Amino acid sequence: MKKKSLYNEKLLELWKNPKDFGKLENPTHEYSEANTICGDEMFVYLRVENEIVKDAKFFSTGCLICIVFASKLIEMIKGMGMEEVYELKDEDLLKLLDINLTPLKMKCACLSLDAVQNCLKKGKIKS
Ligand code: FES
Repeated sequence: MKKKSLYNEKLLELWKNPKDFGKLENPTHEYSEANTICGDEMFVYLRVENEIVKDAKFFSTGCLICIVFASKLIEMIKGMGMEEVYELKDEDLLKLLDINLTPLKMKCACLSLDAVQNCLKKGKIKS
């Protein structure tokens, strides 16, 4: 089956109204990761209880591809265990939206996964 083009109507709609966009109240973890190619940043906020991601939000100055994949990823990880999130691979994320990506855009798409995994590893907020 033919993959969808880079910017279709559904993607534009998700980009204009991403889910879970903004800052989470009372996060247990927060972290920001920069795309080393363009410099755009991804901020991730997580609330983790008993090793489960109970809630999550993100904010980013990145491009459409970065935003739409982050929106899908954040939606997916809510309710997942930390170990499950660590085990996610770029391919798991890319499967969430079946679109053609150039190598440069792959980096944009996967920025959120790097940010989420590093947030769990390094972003615990000291209370
Ligand atoms: Fe910067 Fe895509 S161009 S995140």
